Amino acid sequence: MRKPIIAGNWKMYKSFEEAADFVDEVTSLIPSNEAVDAVICAPAIYLATLVEIADETDLAIGAQNMHYETEGAFTGEVSPTQLASIGVDYVVLGHSERREYFAETDEAINKKVRAALNVDIVPIICCGETDAEREAGQTEAKVEAQITAALQGFSAEEVQHMVIAYEPIWAIGTGKTATADDANAVCGAIRQVVANLFDDATAQAIRIQYGGSVKPENIEELLSKEHIDGALVGGASLQVESYVKLVEAGA
Ligand code: G3P
Repeated sequence: MRKPIIAGNWKMYKSFEEAADFVDEVTSLIPSNEAVDAVICAPAIYLATLVEIADETDLAIGAQNMHYETEGAFTGEVSPTQLASIGVDYVVLGHSERREYFAETDEAINKKVRAALNVDIVPIICCGETDAEREAGQTEAKVEAQITAALQGFSAEEVQHMVIAYEPIWAIGTGKTATADDANAVCGAIRQVVANLFDDATAQAIRIQYGGSVKPENIEELLSKEHIDGALVGGASLQVESYVKLVEAGA
């Protein structure tokens, strides 16, 4: 049985005070992490404080990106080692916004996944197709290529502890959600890719989230599907009430 994982991705939202208040409040409202993994992926500048506030609670804190080098002359970047040194548990890698606006390549994402594992940070590896690719019937080929590239060079044992997030780009922030059946079919196809690359046990162990306009009204149906093990949530993770409802749905 795979433990559900509900991760909020705040993107570039919230003031420092709002972020700290949110984490302080939700830590006392969410269910135990024995039933569900609850994660907030916050802007890098807030991570150290949020990790402290969430320390010894059921909430885990994640980053939204990182460099793959341990250190070096990379002005403005944050390294995996730096994230680990402040106690960050997760990192979102290869989000479509980073691929599109910051020219992140499959190769860089693969290096980042390796770098995350090196410091015991769980990578949440994003994949997903554009509207045009969906219309052209290329959804499965697109996610297969992205996941194959991201997982290149890893052992089955390493892959079991990773998280994949399937986020169709046309559903992000648009209010359009993939139907639960369609999302499940693509998540199932991703699981099959993992089985083909590694083995069935690895495919059954890895957790696959759906992301794209997830909200309290649609999360239960999505989570009821065989291959959907959680959600990566943007907009609906910004309010305490809706975030807590999403985590409760996973428990
Ligand atoms: O990473 C989460 C995200 O891209 C989905 O955003 O606002 O559609 O839930 P949203």
